[in-house]
Amino acid sequence: DEILTTLKILIIGESGVGKSSLLLRFSDDSFDPSQALTIGVDFRTKKDTAGQERFRTLTPSYYRDAQGAILVFDVTNRKSFEKLETWLNELDTYATKSSLKKMVVGNKTDMSPRQVSREEGSRFARRNATFYMETSAKENVNVVNAFEDLVAHIIQT
Ligand code: GTP
Ligand code: MG
Repeated sequence: DEILTTLKILIIGESGVGKSSLLLRFSDDSFDPSQALTIGVDFRTKKDTAGQERFRTLTPSYYRDAQGAILVFDVTNRKSFEKLETWLNELDTYATKSSLKKMVVGNKTDMSPRQVSREEGSRFARRNATFYMETSAKENVNVVNAFEDLVAHIIQT
């Protein structure tokens, strides 16, 4: 017998950090160097949210019932790392499940120069009771691992 479960996982973070690219890599094992920015939210089973203020009004219903959240920043963009604090607050405000599992992902490790070290990323994650992973959607490093680790955390509880 097969039991199928649908999990709702949010992928959030500033515009341009690679949320759509991580999803494309995970769902389709592909990468688009000219990935267009996401307008609005895709409500199909594979989804993405735009990291932009003008879509802020969509977020409350979007966050509801999520079991997991991947907070993405770009390791070559310090600002995107500093904004994680705001994204954590968004989660606290709108996500309804107290058991929500969070993970911090530093993406674009194939690029240089870095503006955020692995140590800093991992310290931030630890301080916020989440775990940390670094990825490259472009070079397919750790993307599947990141999704699978989060899913493992969700289904263990
Ligand atoms: P919004 O939809 O605007 O919120 O952005 P997003 O977070 O979905 O970012 P997106 O996936 O559109 O990626 C932005 C740009 O970065 C695109 O040109 C991607 O091709 C590129 N990109 C994404 N991930 C990586 C990566 O791991 N390495 C490199 N070098 N480029 C990447
Ligand atoms: Mg996008």
